[in-house]
Amino acid sequence: MLKDKVGIITGASRGIGRATAVAFAHAGATVVLASRTQHDLETVADLIRAEGGEALVVPADVTQAEAVETLVNRTLQAYGQIDILVNNAGTGVFEPIVDSDPEVWTQVVASNLQSTYLCSKYVLPSMLERQSGQIINVLSIAAKVAFKASSAYCAAKAGALAFTKVLADEVRDQKIRVTAISPGSVDTPFWNEIEGHPELNLMLKPEHVAETILFAATQPDGMVTDEIVVTPPLGIL
Ligand SMILES: NC(=O)c1ccc[n+]([C@@H]2O[C@H](COP(=O)([O-])OP(=O)(O)OC[C@H]3O[C@@H](n4cnc5c(N)ncnc54)[C@H](OP(=O)(O)O)[C@@H]3O)[C@@H](O)[C@H]2O)c1
Repeated sequence: MLKDKVGIITGASRGIGRATAVAFAHAGATVVLASRTQHDLETVADLIRAEGGEALVVPADVTQAEAVETLVNRTLQAYGQIDILVNNAGTGVFEPIVDSDPEVWTQVVASNLQSTYLCSKYVLPSMLERQSGQIINVLSIAAKVAFKASSAYCAAKAGALAFTKVLADEVRDQKIRVTAISPGSVDTPFWNEIEGHPELNLMLKPEHVAETILFAATQPDGMVTDEIVVTPPLGIL
């Protein structure tokens, strides 16, 4: 399905990004794995290579423009093209506004929103040149629903949804497809440090979201899926 395609996946070291990298590799794609933690990325790459796939590890803090430029340049040097960008990296810190730390708040916005802007910006020139490409932004149900103690996360994801719509309209006529995917709760390490989270066994599995991302990446010609919302069977937990 993705033979001869090259995909960059941010936040590929664990959770949804890791599952997406594995699903893309199973579908035949060459995957470029980005996050801040080289050791964890190498583990994912080893898993993919052990199954005959092709993976490149590029450690990058995707809130930093220079690191993102390097990620894009290294991908182009290695493979000459970028067919798919999955903007998946993100963090969540959940505290009431009155108790929040401005630096932490800003970092949550940067990891979810700034990263999506930067990766899209630096990948776009090569996609525009080829008049081909797919950008898939992993948002959250928090882009659409307000949750208490989630101001940074909701603002970042809602901002990323608005950004996604603008991006889609800017490149729609140049054969670049942009899709927003907004999952409900997913059982990943995202929840490890968060007290009082919903039951993990009621959540989606990362593989469910990976399948949804794979669908977006393999849409037939002649259609664009602008937005997908995917929730656990019980809905918003
Ligand atoms: N889990 C859920 O319930 C859920 C629901 C809806 C949407 N989402 C969204 O899905 C995405 C993936 O979440 P997840 O559940 O898989 O979380 P996760 O298991 O905590 O994984 C987050 C990934 O993002 C990477 N990352 C974080 N900050 C980064 C930065 N500045 N630069 C580069 N990489 C960075 C992490 O790698 P390093 O630490 O190695 O950098 C890790 O690979 C996020 O955007 C999240 O908001 C999650």
